[in-house]
Amino acid sequence: MAIPRDFINELIARIDIVDLIDRKVPLKKAGKNHSACCPFHSEKSPSFTVSRDKQFYHCFGCGAHGNAIDFVMEYDRLEFVDAIEELAGQLGLAVPREQGTGKRPDQGLSRDLYELMEEANLFYQSQLRQHPDKKKVVDYLAFRGLSDEVVEQFGIGFAPDGWDGLLGRYRQNQAAQDKLLTAGMLIANDNGKRYDRFRDRLMFPIRDRRGRVVGFGGRVLGDGTPKYLNSPETPIFHKGNELYGLYELKQKHRDPQHVLIVEGYMDVVALAQFGVDYAVASLGTSTTAEQFQLLVRSAKQVICCYDGDQAGRDAAWRALETALPLLKPGDQVKFMFLPQGEDPDTMVRKIGKEAFEALMHNALLLPEFLFDTLSNNHGSDKGALAKQAISLIEKVQDTVLQNLLLENLAHKLGMNSSEDLKKKLGFAVNKAKPLNAKGLQGRGTPLRLAIALLVQNPSLGFGLIEQPALERLQMPGIELLAHLLEITREQSLNSAQLLELHREHEQKSTLTKLAQWDHQVADENVLPEFKQTLIWLNNQYIEQLYQELSLKQTLTKDEKIQLTKLIAIMKGTSK
Ligand code: GTP
Ligand code: MN
Repeated sequence: MAIPRDFINELIARIDIVDLIDRKVPLKKAGKNHSACCPFHSEKSPSFTVSRDKQFYHCFGCGAHGNAIDFVMEYDRLEFVDAIEELAGQLGLAVPREQGTGKRPDQGLSRDLYELMEEANLFYQSQLRQHPDKKKVVDYLAFRGLSDEVVEQFGIGFAPDGWDGLLGRYRQNQAAQDKLLTAGMLIANDNGKRYDRFRDRLMFPIRDRRGRVVGFGGRVLGDGTPKYLNSPETPIFHKGNELYGLYELKQKHRDPQHVLIVEGYMDVVALAQFGVDYAVASLGTSTTAEQFQLLVRSAKQVICCYDGDQAGRDAAWRALETALPLLKPGDQVKFMFLPQGEDPDTMVRKIGKEAFEALMHNALLLPEFLFDTLSNNHGSDKGALAKQAISLIEKVQDTVLQNLLLENLAHKLGMNSSEDLKKKLGFAVNKAKPLNAKGLQGRGTPLRLAIALLVQNPSLGFGLIEQPALERLQMPGIELLAHLLEITREQSLNSAQLLELHREHEQKSTLTKLAQWDHQVADENVLPEFKQTLIWLNNQYIEQLYQELSLKQTLTKDEKIQLTKLIAIMKGTSK
């Protein structure tokens, strides 16, 4: 199912890219544009600019560029369709669908898998209300102190005991069974006999960022083993890319100030019940780079919460090692350790929201945790400490953080300043590129200028009379101009919309380059300059005709008249 072009066009017209980006990356007004340090690479001075007129962004440092959809795709790491959903959601619009042809071959299967997972989810939820054994589950929920509201909010359900609670619903539907197997909901034994993976368990549905159920975590109702059973990796579920509770968090807070990462499903749910409704959990593994990226993009501040024991410290250290190379200027990561024997679930129940948040605010900053741990590891062996510190600091891309860590290290080593240390280690302290490191410079050909002016100011084309000469002119690249004139003549577009129409176009990269090209034509000269290039192109056509006719051996009467006219025109224009 394709999304109608008109809708996408409308979306870009209604979203203001400056506001959109400013919410994630605070922008400063700089002349006509807005600027900031680029969120896509590490730098000290801003080379990332956003244009309200053109409705797109461009980084002179790393070359990142695009419109609102590209920004959401890049920044939130979403697929095209998900980015559209995200932007539509911000405007409170539903995304319409139309029958399309160009779908990927696996989309059909994925769609079926999502539907079946949602059916399974609804089945488990219904069992919580109506299964004959429901009492033991309800008792267990009460024992764990979970409220009806939070059970409902997280869609918690019950997989009944037995081999075919779920399977039994698809007895006559072999195709659905096959897909449930692919989705990890059924298991086939050596004889090919199929049965339910999840039996007699409390079920936590895991949703992706669009709210689709992609997997489950199932907990035994008591002390059995394994305590948790998780969905395996499937075509729609990749543990390392998802975070339990992120969808639910985003439902509550569009722009959360902070996000707390914890270890367990129960922790997320219990915290939410007590008002700490911004926790997520990685899915039974250490936090992956992908998950970290999601976290720092979800909120300015990420607090990693662990048990106070050695296992907790080790897990925190692994998270720190994962995070270091990913951090961008402005990201804040803190580490929080709970007293021995507590986890977030037990803790928040004991001390309540306010005291829990106070613990959170006192969490260790990343440099503190890093150097505390190094001191613990190496005691008075400063050489070993320096060696490990440097191997970590080298990975840091954010130069501000890198300098801060070097200062800290210098201090630890008893040096007065980090300058000597930096020199010794060969750290390039200021890696920022000069602002004018642009890929394209100079004015190029008139044709190039005409296309650039039009892409950057599509209104130039709106209502313009037809240019039949351009259709017949033989000049490399002229078709692109003719094509753009045709589009912009009929509808009033801004640059971002025009580019969006060309997302799949073979000339897309040329267009985006020209969209950012600094043509050095002052605002007030854009229209006259554009007209001038059109006149120049028309003249080129007249010359072309003249060449064609003058090369002919014999001319018809009409051709002779035409040639005379052409010569007159050419004399006229050359005066
Ligand atoms: P409760 O014991 O119910 O409070 O759960 P918890 O969330 O406190 O669990 P725990 O701290 O023991 O584990 C944290 C997370 O690790 C869980 O949420 C699971 O994702 C994962 N986990 C724990 N036990 C198992 C297990 O036996 N198998 C698997 N695959 N994962 C587990
Ligand atoms: Mn627990």
